[in-house]
Amino acid sequence: MLKHVEIKSLVSLSLAEGETRNVCVKGWVRTKRGNKNVAFIALNDGTCVQSLQVVAELQTEENSNGFSDELMKKINTGACLCVEGVLVKSMGKGQNVEIQAKNIEVYGQADPESYPLQKKGHSLEFLREIAHLRPRTNTFGCVLRLRHEMAYALHKFYHERGFVYLHTPIITGSDCEGAGEMFQVSTLELENLPRTPQGTIDYSKDFFGKPTKLTVSGQLEGELGAMALSKIYTFGPTFRAENSNTPRHLAEFWMNEPEMAFYEIEDNMDLAEDFLKHLTAHALEHCMDDLRFLNDMYDKELISRLEHVGKMHFERITYTQAVDVLKASNAKFDYPVEWGMDLQSEHERYLVEKHYKKPVIITDYPKDIKAFYMKQNADGKTVRGMDVLFPQIGEIIGGSQREEDLEKLQRRINECHIPDKDMWWYLDTRRFGTAPHSGFGLGFERLLLFVTGMTNIRDVIPFPRFPQNAEF
Ligand code: 4AD
Ligand code: MG
Repeated sequence: MLKHVEIKSLVSLSLAEGETRNVCVKGWVRTKRGNKNVAFIALNDGTCVQSLQVVAELQTEENSNGFSDELMKKINTGACLCVEGVLVKSMGKGQNVEIQAKNIEVYGQADPESYPLQKKGHSLEFLREIAHLRPRTNTFGCVLRLRHEMAYALHKFYHERGFVYLHTPIITGSDCEGAGEMFQVSTLELENLPRTPQGTIDYSKDFFGKPTKLTVSGQLEGELGAMALSKIYTFGPTFRAENSNTPRHLAEFWMNEPEMAFYEIEDNMDLAEDFLKHLTAHALEHCMDDLRFLNDMYDKELISRLEHVGKMHFERITYTQAVDVLKASNAKFDYPVEWGMDLQSEHERYLVEKHYKKPVIITDYPKDIKAFYMKQNADGKTVRGMDVLFPQIGEIIGGSQREEDLEKLQRRINECHIPDKDMWWYLDTRRFGTAPHSGFGLGFERLLLFVTGMTNIRDVIPFPRFPQNAEF
């Protein structure tokens, strides 16, 4: 028995005419076509976007050595095969090599009547309904390989710069970040809740003895790490229960949050820009086959947009400047622009796509529209927040320099009506050896929208979670 090899290692080989190799490949049938003498089977094992052409001679009156009708009936789109044979230079168009099958074992059949991916060219909407099978399409193969490569490039970027990967908790007892609505975590029986004498729910009977939630962000715990290890990053799932049915929001999404002691806002912006350029460069260097497929199928400007980002200095402007630009523009917005409002995605996209024509970092937002922990500016009105805005996406990164002054932070916490009892551990970083520090959060799926050219965030995560959807 030959050792099996990945299709990726074969498809780009260029064999001389007459040169052969005995190989064994395993994968799923994408298509089968042919005539009464021969079948051509496109076999894909997910290691690359290309399928390997398997040539199977059929049993006929003239050729008793061919594969039997009985076997060939089992080989339909979706079936899983193990093929041993001889790899040769292909004379056909569209592939370097093909395999002349000597032995075919059918691992698993797929009934053509019921296999949902029988035909090619399904809509992304339809594929979302069969998210359990869509990894078997070329599109999702490309997206999922890119997703993996971006996760790898992310870890590599931080590792090479001396950051420590800090695992922050998913279940949290604090709900003070205010980044979004939270999911509750409880082992109490919903039908039979324990009550206090006052009639409220008795959380002392719950698993943790208090109300707990799924985290919206690892930042607050990340800050504890940065105040000891200098530079940390988190990377994990975060949860937001907003009922926002948009192409850019998920209820469960992955966030990467670096947090750095001794970084001011400028250092934070430099890191974010460097980071995004590193990730796009990695995709261009290592994922060109997948990018080309997505470029051709979905977005003819994908590759040029990725290249463009690498060359550009991101524009850096303050919120006040952004408001001035938007007001001076003749563009019609659904939401008229006023200083103090949260910028809507139509405003962000105008700045990035129409006005500056490159990524934009906006800083110094009004304090009332940003989180309590952002460092307050001397003007008393703005804070050192920063959002990185990307073409097609809008906000891809949100971050800030953090308020390191205990008194100022405490005042802001009171203004925001955040209960002190939830914050004592966070405030301890400011009580004991406080330091200037900064950080940001990258929405990993927003990054993937940019890198894959997909337009719906549900298509860049294997198993999307959104309102009314948690089937697979
Ligand atoms: O701007 P956000 O809410 O910032 C934070 O959570 C901070 N704690 C980050 C930090 O400073 N450490 O979220 C950060 C990013 C956004 O820029 C966006 O890319 C993404 O997370 N994001 C979402 N992605 C998908 N679905 C959602 N519902 C998202 N909400 C935010
Ligand atoms: Mg934000």
